Amino acid sequence: MSIKVENVSFTYSKKTPNSYEALHNVSLEIKKNSITGIVGHTGSGKSTLVQMFNGLLKPETGTITVDDFVIDSKQKKIKNVKQLRKHVGLVFQFPEYQLFDETVEKDVSFGPKNFGMNNIDALNKAHEALAMMGIDETYYKRSPFELSGGEKRKVALAGILAIDPDILILDEPTAGLDPKSSLEVLTLVEKLHEQGKTIVIITHDMDLLFRYCDHVVLLKDGNVAFDGKPENLFQKNIDDLSIDVPKIYQFLDILKKKGLDLSKENIRSVDELVKVLTERRKK
Ligand SMILES: Nc1ncnc2c1ncn2[C@@H]1O[C@H](COP(=O)(O)OP(=O)(O)OP(=O)(O)O)[C@@H](O)[C@H]1O
Ligand SMILES: [Mg+2]
Repeated sequence: MSIKVENVSFTYSKKTPNSYEALHNVSLEIKKNSITGIVGHTGSGKSTLVQMFNGLLKPETGTITVDDFVIDSKQKKIKNVKQLRKHVGLVFQFPEYQLFDETVEKDVSFGPKNFGMNNIDALNKAHEALAMMGIDETYYKRSPFELSGGEKRKVALAGILAIDPDILILDEPTAGLDPKSSLEVLTLVEKLHEQGKTIVIITHDMDLLFRYCDHVVLLKDGNVAFDGKPENLFQKNIDDLSIDVPKIYQFLDILKKKGLDLSKENIRSVDELVKVLTERRKK
């Protein structure tokens, strides 16, 4: 197990005229060492949901169990919230909400320091995490707020990597990144997954979902509309779920209409398609 969500609801601005129920009786499970994608239309409750996984928001009803941590709506305060935030690292959808310190290296070393590392070790850890994100030493003394959107996102990601959480939650990690940086981030995510981390990615990018995730949860108006394998999501009637179909899936559909049915091959990327076609040619 990694994360189990049971009957969770959440309302913003409760007991005010602006009250809004963002999640309604949501239940789902995120398995250890999976890469789970959370998708859904804007406003469907994705960011609200993941903010509960590390105790930034508390459920109004129900329970969330994250490995040894239990977040129960009936508790007044979330227990062991500091340890929970070391266990579950959340990279915010908007990096500006996460960055706060006057220099890049201070910002990224804050996490490890906060969890008990001395200054020198924390700085080393920060430099290591920044290097993983392709941010070199010329950035160390710069203000994170002067950086471009993509650079801010990379620094925010480094800030979470520096904590070395077991579960990594990325809220739209490639938004604002150029294709090359997106690929670098996703390749790093794959590597972290291979090292044993559990990954949760919120995305609007169905190609990303199809290529990288082994599990998907689709939210619609605060409810779970689908929970299963990505390839099964696109077999549903997706018109009313307002999501795009991955390009590779569209291409396989064209091939099928032209007489080449590869639907049983579980192809998720161009590389996999090439592999299947090469194997077939050998036969
Ligand atoms: N702080 C807040 N106060 C009031 N309502 C909020 C607040 N944050 C979010 N909401 C509302 O709750 C609903 C769910 O928001 P949430 O941010 O979880 O959606 P999302 O699926 O992450 O959307 P997006 O794809 O645009 O990021 C939306 O209707 C949003 O307007
Ligand atoms: Mg969001």
